[in-house]
Amino acid sequence: MNSVYHIFVRRLSTQQKHYKLVIIGAGCGGLACASKFAKKLSKDQIAIIDKNDTHVYQPGWTLAGAGLKTPDELEKPQSQCIPTNTTWIQSNANQIEPEKNFVQLENGSKISYDYLIVASGIQTRLDKIKGAIEALDNHPQHVVSMYSRKYVRNVYNTLNHFRGGQAIFTFPSTPIKCPGAPQKIMYLADDIFRRNNVRDKTTISYNTALPVIFGVKKYAAALMEIVKAKNIQLNTRLNLVEVCADKKEAIFENLDQPGTMKTFKYDLLHIAAPMTPYEFLAKSSLADANGFVDVIKETLQHKKFSNVFAIGDCTNLPTSKTAAAIAASNSILVRNLTNIMEGKSDAVPKYDGYTSCPLVTGFNKCILAEFDFDGQPLETLPINQAKERFLSYIMKKDMMPNLYWNMLIRGTWNGPAVFRKLFHLGMSK
Ligand SMILES: Cc1cc2nc3c(=O)[nH]c(=O)nc-3n(C[C@H](O)[C@H](O)[C@H](O)COP(=O)(O)OP(=O)(O)OC[C@H]3O[C@@H](n4cnc5c(N)ncnc54)[C@H](O)[C@@H]3O)c2cc1C
Ligand SMILES: *[C@@H]1O[C@H](CO)[C@@H](O)[C@H](O)[C@H]1NC(C)=O
Ligand SMILES: *[C@@H]1O[C@H](CO)[C@@H](O)[C@H](O)[C@H]1NC(C)=O
Ligand SMILES: *[C@@H]1O[C@H](CO)[C@@H](O)[C@H](O)[C@H]1NC(C)=O
Ligand SMILES: *[C@@H]1O[C@H](CO)[C@@H](O)[C@H](O)[C@H]1NC(C)=O
Repeated sequence: MNSVYHIFVRRLSTQQKHYKLVIIGAGCGGLACASKFAKKLSKDQIAIIDKNDTHVYQPGWTLAGAGLKTPDELEKPQSQCIPTNTTWIQSNANQIEPEKNFVQLENGSKISYDYLIVASGIQTRLDKIKGAIEALDNHPQHVVSMYSRKYVRNVYNTLNHFRGGQAIFTFPSTPIKCPGAPQKIMYLADDIFRRNNVRDKTTISYNTALPVIFGVKKYAAALMEIVKAKNIQLNTRLNLVEVCADKKEAIFENLDQPGTMKTFKYDLLHIAAPMTPYEFLAKSSLADANGFVDVIKETLQHKKFSNVFAIGDCTNLPTSKTAAAIAASNSILVRNLTNIMEGKSDAVPKYDGYTSCPLVTGFNKCILAEFDFDGQPLETLPINQAKERFLSYIMKKDMMPNLYWNMLIRGTWNGPAVFRKLFHLGMSK
């Protein structure tokens, strides 16, 4: 019995595959890095672990919610996105042992590595709000959320058929990807209601867990003007905890008086999902106390394990979680890690926290927020981007999807810093 067991164990361990570089997650960040390394390493040197066979352009969900794109045009088979020259391991990682340099897959097999990049994103948790999933499933004409591949398909239909009443848009009390999106969909809904002549029969409120409408002062000031002009009620420090779909009631906790609840009647409720780090990461020794990968913010290198890097939504980088942040940081990660692999010490610029949030404020209008770790604006164009502009809208709607599919995940888009320098040089002359 014992010897059979040992033979079995030996079999398993000889099955252990080894790669020079392992990347967990083939989303925006994983592919941006993989594509760069695929130019230098061969197929048997790079493995990308991801079970999902569909790649979704998530920033497009806001536009799909407003009927400006179809959900289908935001998706591609992952097989078309994974770079050639890499090995795709179609499984989830369920354990990381950075002390021993291996990742364990769902079926128990182990993949060992010399270098690891973690890019598994953040988990959407509609289940954290009592009654939310039941309401989304059974009351789709009143309760919607674009923060999900499944539920985004129903958002536009519901907004377009809305005939007036109380419309509430929420923002949760956790970190989320693209913190501007919950209000973008509200501004677009406002325009849809106006187009359909139901705006004067509708009250719109934005119930946010945050103390302000947006974290960056310059843009918050511009957004407050827009909220006023559109006659939207801003209610701060309210966190959605329960949906009673039968009574059409949403229950919020007042975060300034923990334990105190406030009930709102709704006819339409848009839920921005709370998000949490994935469990397998949170319980690994790569995580900080909140469950995010603990990286040095200027280099994306792990604070303890120098052969581990992380990028994107799974990290504890103190900046907004966006694809734009990945664009600005992936070349810094790749250059630093390449130096380590090749024993070189070429100078690598430091990541400044650049992130961007195209705040669509209606059909044909957009404020293009761009800022750094300190919440200081880092605008690309030599114009005031806090003003609503058609150009910014076209950039968001038509240019950014192409940049994403054709350049960012192909490893050839490093963010707009080069243009910023160019424009600002031009201006100083
Ligand atoms: C509604 C919405 C609007 C947005 N708007 C914008 C915007 O306007 N501008 C902008 O720049 N960004 C926007 N974003 C944010 C942007 O989509 C994300 O920041 C970006 O996709 C993050 O990339 P990532 O690689 O970190 O994670 P993801 O792209 O989410 O990829 C994570 C990958 O990891 C995989 N994975 C998960 N768990 C495991 C596991 N255990 N093992 C292996 N693989 C795993 C997943 O299958 C997935 O493929 C928006 C997002 C949403 C949802
Ligand atoms: C694949 O890798 C080789 C080197 O191993 C490189 O010469 C080639 O250009 C790579 N192919 C692509 C498509 O990047
Ligand atoms: C586990 O899954 C991986 C990836 O799908 C596969 O290559 C491997 O053979 C599987 N191992 C076992 C023991 O089933
Ligand atoms: C793939 O990812 C999308 C979101 O990007 C998610 O909705 C879907 O459930 C995932 N599919 C699988 C099989 O994990
Ligand atoms: C990579 O970044 C670290 C900081 O995380 C820095 O100390 C080091 O010099 C860089 N290494 C290389 C080889 O560029």
